[in-house]
Amino acid sequence: MDLLVIRGGSPLRGTVRVSGAKNSALPIMAAALLTDGPVRLREVPRLSDVSTLSQLLRFLGMEIDETGPNELALEVKDRRSFTAPYDLVRKMRASICVLGPLLARRGRAKVSLPGGCNIGHRPIDLHLRGLEALGARVRVENGYVLASAGRLKGATIDMAGPQGTTVTGTANILTAAVLASGTTTITSAALEPEIVDLAHFLNSLGARISGQGTSVIRVEGVPALNGGAHAVIPDRIEAATLMTAAIATRGEVMISNVEPAHLASVTQLLRRAGAAIEIAPSGTAIEAAAGPQWRPVEFSAIPYPGIPTDVQAQFTAMLTAAPGISIAADNVFPNRFMHVSELCRMGARIEQSGDRAVIHGGTRLTGASVMASDLRASAALVIAALTAEGDTTIRRVYHLDRGYERLDLKLSSLGANIVRLRDTPELLTDSPLPQARAA
Ligand code: EPU
Repeated sequence: MDLLVIRGGSPLRGTVRVSGAKNSALPIMAAALLTDGPVRLREVPRLSDVSTLSQLLRFLGMEIDETGPNELALEVKDRRSFTAPYDLVRKMRASICVLGPLLARRGRAKVSLPGGCNIGHRPIDLHLRGLEALGARVRVENGYVLASAGRLKGATIDMAGPQGTTVTGTANILTAAVLASGTTTITSAALEPEIVDLAHFLNSLGARISGQGTSVIRVEGVPALNGGAHAVIPDRIEAATLMTAAIATRGEVMISNVEPAHLASVTQLLRRAGAAIEIAPSGTAIEAAAGPQWRPVEFSAIPYPGIPTDVQAQFTAMLTAAPGISIAADNVFPNRFMHVSELCRMGARIEQSGDRAVIHGGTRLTGASVMASDLRASAALVIAALTAEGDTTIRRVYHLDRGYERLDLKLSSLGANIVRLRDTPELLTDSPLPQARAA
């Protein structure tokens, strides 16, 4: 297992390129199960989640070759298997994205229930209800979802749940419906750009989807899909993470390969917090810099186009520096606050109760030994460490590596003082590491 040692205090400066979006790449790779034709994907981020899904897809008879640093060639060679085993699904919840494609193309799916995780209870009732509406027989047995169907039949399916719509639920119904007979109408569909990207990918293979990006998506079923090629959209969450890191360190960073429209709520909130955000004339880069003065802000994470839950932790870390009281609420995952106690160990003054954190800002954090608990919580700890006085050791960075393509290297290229080390028993000490001092 790796750990990161970060010496805080260096403002980030320079230019950095954002990778392809994890949450687009994963459902798109799973959707390649729907066709026997070859699929070529560009801008696939190199992440451990992508490796985990590749492992699962190979298990399901897909051949996957790395044809370039961020390019994959995928082709189904054997359609006999329909099982996504627990050992692979437990590593990554997004494995549930194979459910719709397996059912639609192979008529059967046996997919381990993903279970909860560190960001809270994560049911899949809406996925299952939607598949039943398309005519599948679905039951849950021994920790597995067992689904079977002849050709699925188009239906009207509502994806609204108690916390709003569901992103991977929408992806599962969309991928199941493309090969169904007749028309499927998905109401309360997720508006996320990753769903739009998935629909564009499927349409490039011959699917007939319209309305993506709105709350009503229509799918005219087709008998089969072709192969095709697609480039994954830029990762808006990575871009937002880099922006908050730049601003938190009082730096100035040009972030390239972004779609500014996907980041509108994030850039608006950063401006409200006093940051200077400029969209480059090219329209594909954003310059993020600290403004003359911090302002405390209040926000609630909600589904797109609102502030994403996937940046709540990073904003919370950044706002520890803003004098005054800021409030971060999370309406999507109301228990997603595992980062708060670790931030408090670094000197942050945050009171968390229910679905919100009250941040008493204006404190200079101090380096400490902390533990990453999930992907975005690890990003928040990295941001906190970059601003802190002294050295911070972050353990369990495999959480970070699940969803960021070598964030440590990107931050180093911007002047961050950061080293990656193998976690060994000798390093189990609170004292700062000599390697970090030398870096
Ligand atoms: N929900 C239900 N029933 C369902 C499905 C969801 O009640 O059947 C609830 C969830 O418990 C949650 C809300 O609906 O309160 C939204 O969950 P959603 O299903 O949209 O989340 P997801 O699809 O499992 C994706 C991303 C997450 C991101 C959320 C919200 C992928 C692979 N994952 O998860 O990404 O936080 O949407 O935007 O796309 C991350 O990248 O760090 C991450 C966790």
